[in-house]
Amino acid sequence: MAFPLSAETASSPAVDTTLARRLQAARPSATGAMSQAARRLAAEGRDIISLSEGELDFDTPVHIQHAAMRGIIEGQTRYTDVGGTPQLRASIVRKFVRDNNLHYKEAEVIASTGAKQILFNALLATLDAGDEAVVVAPYWVSYSEMIRIAGGEPVVVTPQADNGFKLTPERLAEALTPRTRWLILNAPCNPSGALYTADELRALADVVRAHPRLLVMSDDIYEEIVFEGAFVSFAQASPDMQARTLTINGVSKAYAMTGWRLGYAGGPRWLIQALELLQSQSTSNPSSVSQAAALAALDGPQDFLDGWRSRLRGRRDLALSILSQAAPLLRMACPPAAFYLYADCSAALGRITPAGQRLETDMDLARYLLEEAGVAVVPGTAFGLAPYLRLAYALSDERLALACERIVSACARLQPLSAAPSA
Ligand SMILES: Cc1ncc(COP(=O)(O)O)c(C=O)c1O
Repeated sequence: MAFPLSAETASSPAVDTTLARRLQAARPSATGAMSQAARRLAAEGRDIISLSEGELDFDTPVHIQHAAMRGIIEGQTRYTDVGGTPQLRASIVRKFVRDNNLHYKEAEVIASTGAKQILFNALLATLDAGDEAVVVAPYWVSYSEMIRIAGGEPVVVTPQADNGFKLTPERLAEALTPRTRWLILNAPCNPSGALYTADELRALADVVRAHPRLLVMSDDIYEEIVFEGAFVSFAQASPDMQARTLTINGVSKAYAMTGWRLGYAGGPRWLIQALELLQSQSTSNPSSVSQAAALAALDGPQDFLDGWRSRLRGRRDLALSILSQAAPLLRMACPPAAFYLYADCSAALGRITPAGQRLETDMDLARYLLEEAGVAVVPGTAFGLAPYLRLAYALSDERLALACERIVSACARLQPLSAAPSA
């Protein structure tokens, strides 16, 4: 007997697709539609150059790869302590002393599945409904949505562009309320590249000190990618802040290890314990093999990083010099750190594309650059500050130069409203 009905024709009972309220609060990523469009065009055979990736194009260094392979062969393939092996935690403690003059005990550090897991769990562990967390725009896309999912309210502070998008004590003081639980500081900043001096961090700490309930997340994930100036971690600048700072870092950006998913943090024991609790009931330890690799990354040679920095700086300067021809439609400062340019595109809005479309938003411009120039960028809307475009320059010099030239020529084809032929 033939099957009576195919899956398509069977009438299935209605499914309740309502999601939990905590998820309804989160907004979909503004970059999702762009990435999907980029993938579609690439699948159609178009040569799409992506300036939208938040990762280095370098390979994970060979000594780190070998450490991971050795780890597998030697049987480091089982569950480990939830917060990371004692060896890795000891290495994290050494790293914080060596690079940041921060002294944590082994029980005050944790290894997790990416810095992302630490950020998420820290917010989940500490935010109650109505609690606020201050983020500095432009900010990394996930902060605001993680805060919302955890039940809190993001409070966005937008510093002056001509101050390098750096938070000032005055702006911080204005944003704080009795409900503020977190200040999230990210320097070098994704996407602006903002980097703070020790004095600037101390001035912020003066404000934090007056708010006993306030905690600080220092997201230092781009620490190694600094071209001008020096990196200082928040608690390093003001040692009394260590008791209420979660210093977050990871191997993703420093060692080209985004796929290994290994982040780490140092912080007060009560908070690290809460992170361990959440981790133990969700993902358990981060991958044992990635821990073996991270140990080699943190304890191994660091001298190759100078070469990486100089290649990245060369790319930054290359991109800036080509994109200067797109001024004034695109205007950008020279960021001292990280691997992004954050371009003000306000002068391009209102212009008309060769197809006769008027560009209203940075999203429209990003879509135009994708379709017209075959270059994928991320609109500033995703980072809480529009109209801007974020251009990641961690790709080969040749592809980067080609992408920038395509952007320049696509911008040159945009007509001011008055010059556009009337329909
Ligand atoms: C500012 C910032 N923090 C944290 C992360 C997450 O890093 P990880 O790969 O360690 O989860 C990223 C990744 O893009 C980032 O840009």
